[in-house]
Amino acid sequence: MNTVAVIGTQWGDEGKGKIVDLLARHADVVVRFQGGNNAAHTLVVDGAKFILRLVPAGALYPGKVCVIGAGMAVDPIALLEELAELKRAANFAPDGRLKLSYDAHMVMPYHRAIDRAREARLGKDAIGTTGFGIGPAYEDKAARCGLRFSELADFPSFERKLRRNLAEKNRYLTAVLKAKPVPVAGLVERMRDVRRKLLPHLCDTAAYLAEALERGQRILFEGAHGTMLDIDYGTYPFVTSSSCVASAVFAGGGLPGGRLDAVMGIAKAYTTRVGAGPFPTEIKTRLGDHLREKGAEYGSATQRPRRVGWFDAVLTRRAMRVNGAAILAVTKLDVLTGIDPVRICVAYEYRGARSAEIPASPARLERVKPVYEEMAGWHERLSEKRELGELPPNARRYLERISELCSARLAMVGVGASREEIIVLEDPFLNRR
Ligand code: GDP
Ligand code: IMO
Ligand code: MG
Repeated sequence: MNTVAVIGTQWGDEGKGKIVDLLARHADVVVRFQGGNNAAHTLVVDGAKFILRLVPAGALYPGKVCVIGAGMAVDPIALLEELAELKRAANFAPDGRLKLSYDAHMVMPYHRAIDRAREARLGKDAIGTTGFGIGPAYEDKAARCGLRFSELADFPSFERKLRRNLAEKNRYLTAVLKAKPVPVAGLVERMRDVRRKLLPHLCDTAAYLAEALERGQRILFEGAHGTMLDIDYGTYPFVTSSSCVASAVFAGGGLPGGRLDAVMGIAKAYTTRVGAGPFPTEIKTRLGDHLREKGAEYGSATQRPRRVGWFDAVLTRRAMRVNGAAILAVTKLDVLTGIDPVRICVAYEYRGARSAEIPASPARLERVKPVYEEMAGWHERLSEKRELGELPPNARRYLERISELCSARLAMVGVGASREEIIVLEDPFLNRR
């Protein structure tokens, strides 16, 4: 297989970065195709921790090409900071290895200001966004007033549009949102610096990928967020503003239609969510606090504590279906060690009726009662296990039940945060074991 997409099946932070990093060994090109620095993908390599926000997780291997696709909303200042950090910590040199789409949209300081001011005004009804301006940037894209990287080439024209947008957004910020305006001073100069540093990396990434396919190269697509945060299939309005599902690799990544060979869904062995919105299997007792601490469930982007819950097979099964994912990686199984019994949500009950599907409205999802299956837990440490057969029988039964409920083939099992702490049953770039 030459083209593989890795997609989150829950509300993000499933461990996509670690899986992408692992699969990238056998890929030539790694592509991000949606979202922006609201994503935070953590990799632990040789004891060192790297958090990637905009640059695909192929960056840590020498020679892999990293593509930032047209479907992304990229804060250029954040990208420059991330590149500087990657240079310092991993000696990543972007020349020839970073391909930034001409067509990607730029997230500007006024997008961040609008995002934050709106959330502040919403009070208890806030979405709990990352505050990085992602929603407002995608709004401008749809409204056809967004600024794309291609526009940096003609700087006088770019500057004119920037000033026009800024004047309009500042009126909105002050008059409607009752917030402070974004100063123009310094912004134009910062964008001149962005132009100088990023112009050499701009390219037609769709054409680049089509040529890579012609050359027989392997391309890995790194999903961000998760299916339940998808603008269409997620728990709207408590979602992000981009399409996070596998089909976005065509529009946002520039992969020619029909050329995706495999989709791997990623799910944690339990569930987490950052921000507001329905979460049927949320654990609000001390067990939830225990899982949060043991799993280090604090947002990598915003350091917010993640809400924690039992594995929800209703959600993950639906996500696997929406993404056409046949193979599943289950991460963080080690975190469940010592929890006995463990639970899996297999259906929801709403006003006495049982269903294995998600209700249409978020208000109903808020009120469903999860139906659990209880299974005996395990107590052994898992981080040294490298074969499925080495796992305690109860852990194997738990994984088998998840795969069965999600109609998926189990491909990988995470047993720790480090690169090597994983059981690999199937690598989609290689033959099945
Ligand atoms: P992503 O956004 O999907 O890439 O996930 P994040 O990086 O935001 O969050 C996942 C966290 O879990 C990171 O801190 C990873 O280092 C860590 N992690 C990934 N896989 C495993 C695993 O199998 N076990 C444990 N204990 N930690 C893991
Ligand atoms: P990765 O790629 C977890 C959530 C935010 C909020 C909602 C909207 O690391 O899995 P936004 O700033 O996107 O407008 O916020 O989406 N969210 C994430 N939660 N992991 C992510 O990314 C997320 N990206 C967005 O917490 O609830
Ligand atoms: Mg994350």
